Amino acid sequence: MSDSNLLWCDLANFYENGKKYWDSVPATVDGMLGGLSHVSSVDIGESIKFLKQFIQSPVSKTNTNYALDCGAGIGRVTKRLLLPLFKQVDMLELCQHFLDQAPEYIGDEMSRVPNCICSGLQDFQPEPYKYDVIWCQWVLGHLTDDDLVSFFQKCRLALTADGLIIFKENVSMNAEFDKLDSSYVRTRENYLGLVEQAGLSVIKETKQKCFPCDLFEVRMFAIK
Ligand SMILES: C[S@@+](CC[C@H](N)C(=O)[O-])C[C@H]1O[C@@H](n2cnc3c(N)ncnc32)[C@H](O)[C@@H]1O
Repeated sequence: MSDSNLLWCDLANFYENGKKYWDSVPATVDGMLGGLSHVSSVDIGESIKFLKQFIQSPVSKTNTNYALDCGAGIGRVTKRLLLPLFKQVDMLELCQHFLDQAPEYIGDEMSRVPNCICSGLQDFQPEPYKYDVIWCQWVLGHLTDDDLVSFFQKCRLALTADGLIIFKENVSMNAEFDKLDSSYVRTRENYLGLVEQAGLSVIKETKQKCFPCDLFEVRMFAIK
């Protein structure tokens, strides 16, 4: 799949339609998860296991000073996964109304979120050598292939030594376009190809366990 070959979507309005959709979604955990807030705990539990092997194992080298949550929404991942493990976390999110809800949702720990950046991932210009982990969850389907490759490349420059980009996304057997929220569900192979195009390598990959079987398969990839 390449941008010149997007058969099923209106590329001209791809980002605009995505923003329109998310602007209409309530700033709640249920809103973040398309009505599936009951999967939040098992999602976070598996993410903690995946992340800890890079930051809390005897051989891990990745620091835990600063993480970035991409497509952060109201901060579900920031609050439950990243703030318990990192000293500081920045949130990057397209819709201001989600960021506005973050202080109430996250509570006192919001004091360790120095920056709430309202921007599309495709327009984000991160500072170099800033983040130990850049976490992207259920958001990369909102980028075109070319923008995703360029986003990965920018993220790589924003990592500290031994830093990692981790993404957790739905995958399907055949790539699909979802008109409702203007996003792709890519295949595992699509993702691997885009990681390679960005000049990065997969360090570890794991399938999410214990999700309802009528949902898409979800995979976590650690890349650098
Ligand atoms: C399915 S929700 C996931 C939220 C959060 N990652 C979580 O797991 O709770 C997708 C989020 O990505 C945001 N988003 C959509 N397109 C985006 C883009 N191009 N750049 C940044 N964020 C985007 C939406 O506003 C929404 O908050």
